[in-house]
Amino acid sequence: MPNDFLAVEGASVSFGKAQARVCALRDVCLAFQPGTLSLVMGPSGSGKTTLLSLLGCLLSPDDGSVFVDGVAVNRLSEAERTVVRQKKISFIFQAFRLFHSLSALDNVALGLEIRDPAASRRREMARDLLLQLDLGDKLHQEPNALSPGEKQRVAIARALAGNPPILLADEPTASLDAEAGRNICQILRGQVDEQGRTVIVVSHDPRWERFADRTITLCDGRVEEEVAVP
Ligand SMILES: Nc1ncnc2c1ncn2[C@@H]1O[C@H](COP(=O)(O)OP(=O)(O)OP(=O)(O)O)[C@@H](O)[C@H]1O
Ligand SMILES: [Mg+2]
Repeated sequence: MPNDFLAVEGASVSFGKAQARVCALRDVCLAFQPGTLSLVMGPSGSGKTTLLSLLGCLLSPDDGSVFVDGVAVNRLSEAERTVVRQKKISFIFQAFRLFHSLSALDNVALGLEIRDPAASRRREMARDLLLQLDLGDKLHQEPNALSPGEKQRVAIARALAGNPPILLADEPTASLDAEAGRNICQILRGQVDEQGRTVIVVSHDPRWERFADRTITLCDGRVEEEVAVP
C-alpha cells in the first residue's frame, strides 16, 4: 500500500467515549491512483464524510494508516500533516463555503494565499483559474450574486489554486439543478483526464456513475462493495 498514491490501510475511526462511542469507520482498506475518479456512496451515517476527512488529513485514525504520496501521514506531527494537506489536498463541499463579502476573484486569490504565500501574481493566477471555469464575466461579483452552479465553479477554482493533486468533494452537486450538476461532473472529470488529479466524490447523485472509474459503497463504517465502472 505505501506505493499507492493515496490509501487507507486497516483504518478505524471512532467518535465519543464509553457508551456514547460511535465507530464511524471499521478496518477500511482502500487505495486511490492518480488520474482516477472514485465515487463513494452509502446510506447516511455510513462513514463517507469521515473517510474524506481521513484521506484529507483532517482526522487521524485510531488504528491503521493513511498514506499520501507514499508517506504515512498518521505518523507525522499535526504541523507536518497540515503542510501535506496544504500542498496536496483540496476540498469541495455541498454548501460551497465561499466568503460572502469577497468577490469571486478574491475568494480564489485567498485560496492561493493560504497555499503559496510567496506568489506575487496571485490575482492574475486567480483570474486565470476563473477564466478556465468559464467565469470570466463574474470575476468581481460576490457569491450572493451568483447562481448555485457558478458558486460551485468558484469553489472549484479556489480548490484548484496551488495545483493540488488530490480533490475531495462531499456532495458537490446536491444543491444544483440537473444542468449545473452535469457541468460540475464534467469539470471534475476533466481534472482527472487532463491534469491527472486524484478525485474522490461522495454523492448519492446517480449522475456521477458515468463519470467515475469505480464506485465504493460504505455501510456501517465498512467497505461493502468496490466496483470498477466499465
Ligand atoms: N464529529 C463527530 N462526533 C461524533 N460523531 C460523529 C462525528 N462525525 C461523524 N460522527 C458519526 O460517525 C458516523 C459516520 O458519520 P459520517 O458523517 O461519516 O457519515 P456520512 O456517510 O457522511 O453521512 P451523511 O450521508 O449523512 O453525510 C455517524 O454515526 C455519525 O453520527
Ligand atoms: Mg456526510
